[in-house]
Amino acid sequence: MVVSTESSHVLVTGGAGFIGSHTVLVLVSQGFKVVVVDNLCNSCEEPLNRIEKLAGLSEPLPFHKVDLTDNEGVRAVFRQYNISSVIHFAAFKAVGESVQKPLAYYRNNVTGTLNLMDTMSEFGVKNIVFSSSATVYKADYEGNALREDHELGCTSPYGRTKLFMETIIEDAVSAEKGWNAVMLRYFNPSGAHESGTMGEDPRQIPNNLMPYVSQVAIGKLDKVHVFGTDYNTRDGTGVRDYIHVMDLAEAHVIALKRLSEKHGYEIFNLGSGTGQTVLEMIDAMSEACGHKIPYVNDPRRAGDIDTILCDPTRASKVLGFTVRRNIKQICADLWRWQQLNPNGYN
Ligand code: NAD
Ligand code: WQD
Repeated sequence: MVVSTESSHVLVTGGAGFIGSHTVLVLVSQGFKVVVVDNLCNSCEEPLNRIEKLAGLSEPLPFHKVDLTDNEGVRAVFRQYNISSVIHFAAFKAVGESVQKPLAYYRNNVTGTLNLMDTMSEFGVKNIVFSSSATVYKADYEGNALREDHELGCTSPYGRTKLFMETIIEDAVSAEKGWNAVMLRYFNPSGAHESGTMGEDPRQIPNNLMPYVSQVAIGKLDKVHVFGTDYNTRDGTGVRDYIHVMDLAEAHVIALKRLSEKHGYEIFNLGSGTGQTVLEMIDAMSEACGHKIPYVNDPRRAGDIDTILCDPTRASKVLGFTVRRNIKQICADLWRWQQLNPNGYN
């Protein structure tokens, strides 16, 4: 098998982060040998300890604190392990921050990916699953579900780094024989592992809706600010397509297996295909935590649009992937994580 054998490892960059750590858990639970590379700029080592416990690993999970922009550091990892494929999560991801610090985003995300791809090529490792985002799509003001062939066009430096990284990988696949790459464009990841021992651990006040709602639910923040109530949606608030992080994690393992079928370069959307408004998400979380979550109506957030919805048909038809967990479970798991870990991993 190409993706991993008895003696070969799957390299997971950004494996200590939110989506990466849940994916590592699924990988090791399915018997894959994994090596994690992360510079911990937006994470810590604790999720790796929790993975070891949850998966009942008898040996420590191989982890290297390496920055992907450090070419020699990355090469040292490739020298140490027999790596057969890579799942590449490591990136800066805050849309607003990327507008303030575009060069830092291009350096970290694009240079990191170039170094990784160069090193993969040097060591003959030509299988990659890449974390992309629905943010690469041009806004659809009609609120249509977005297919993979929807027109591209980003509005933030962060989004452009994702598009550049996709393009770099696509060009490498066309230029050199033997490469296989799967781009996974996530919609709105949320939730936590059902045990409540792993989840999202934002370092600052969350930018995204669900971690914010969850911190209001536990009383760390006062009230949710609903950004815009005059959108053309069923209750006037923004509609998004939320996907449980464990569904997302499982999709990565399916994508990894797909690499071994050698299809070259492929793109898949990952979402549920159904949308929820901000108020529906606050209600669902209120139900999960057992009390009304306070909120206030605020003006629209710059750059937001009415509806962003995934057309998941391709992932379903080609990969056989459909989400298994609904909004109720997203909220129940998120609340369990928040309650058991009010201060995240610290
Ligand atoms: P995260 O910040 O929790 O995880 C990213 C990890 O990468 C962190 O542990 C961070 O320390 C590490 N990292 C960043 N730059 C690095 C570098 N130069 N070298 C080594 N490690 C580095 O974020 P996440 O939510 O888990 O997102 C994972 C990936 O998914 C990212 O590429 C992100 O852009 C993409 N994505 C996320 C979302 C979302 O809403 N969370 C949506 C679409 C796409
Ligand atoms: C969801 C809805 C807000 C916060 C972002 C990135 C995207 C991708 C996923 C990485 C919107 C509303 C939010 C709050 C609110 N990330 N909201 N109050 O904007 O769909 O997508 O994360 O690739 O690139 O842009 O997600 O969670 O920020 O917002 O009312 O405090 O919640 O207006 O309608 P978004 P989000």
